[in-house]
Amino acid sequence: MNDNKLLYIPVILGTVRKGRMSNWAARLVWQEAAKHPKVETELIDISELPLPTDDAGEANKDAGFAGKMDRADGLVIVSPEYNHGYSGMLKHVLDSCLKEYIHKAVGIVGVSAGPWGGTRVVENLLPVMRELGLVTIFWDVNFSNVHKVFEADGKLRDQAFLPRIDKFLKELIWMATTLRYGRQSVPLT
Ligand SMILES: Cc1cc2nc3c(=O)[nH]c(=O)nc-3n(C[C@H](O)[C@H](O)[C@H](O)COP(=O)(O)O)c2cc1C
Repeated sequence: MNDNKLLYIPVILGTVRKGRMSNWAARLVWQEAAKHPKVETELIDISELPLPTDDAGEANKDAGFAGKMDRADGLVIVSPEYNHGYSGMLKHVLDSCLKEYIHKAVGIVGVSAGPWGGTRVVENLLPVMRELGLVTIFWDVNFSNVHKVFEADGKLRDQAFLPRIDKFLKELIWMATTLRYGRQSVPLT
């Protein structure tokens, strides 16, 4: 494929909770994604999206967010684990779009206070991703005991996360590249 256009892969910070530790995880993954020469990225903080809470689904479509999802080749979703699930606000935001996601790649980053690194929230997001038309990769990043991973100011304590994030992003870039080729060149019959 001779397509030199950068892949646009925004990182979605999937909680509005005050004091959210997922903020540090999202910023780290976003900064690492920005280092990849094939990637254009930005951090989308769902707390900054002006979505109404008295309606649901595409009735809530926000032009700014929908435009970014339409342009995206892939997504990183950074999700804390809340009672083994995802935050209601993340789902509320994701539900505001549909066709914008189809045949795009997605990688999920789980964040938890406990020892399992959000593995349960990652599993719980998979059927949602499928219904949205997103294509999941088989690598995740799991921030377990997240309060120990970052300093209070967000500085990374455990450098072992960097090669894991790199592996995750390389797989996501491969999938996003492949799916962009498919969207552009393989007809749906
Ligand atoms: C409503 C709620 C439910 C939670 N449930 C879990 C859980 O099931 N498993 C877990 O490891 N941590 C749980 N936590 C802790 C979060 O994973 C922890 O706050 C972590 O820092 C990620 O969330 P944050 O980005 O909001 O900080 C829960 C936190 C909240 C607010």
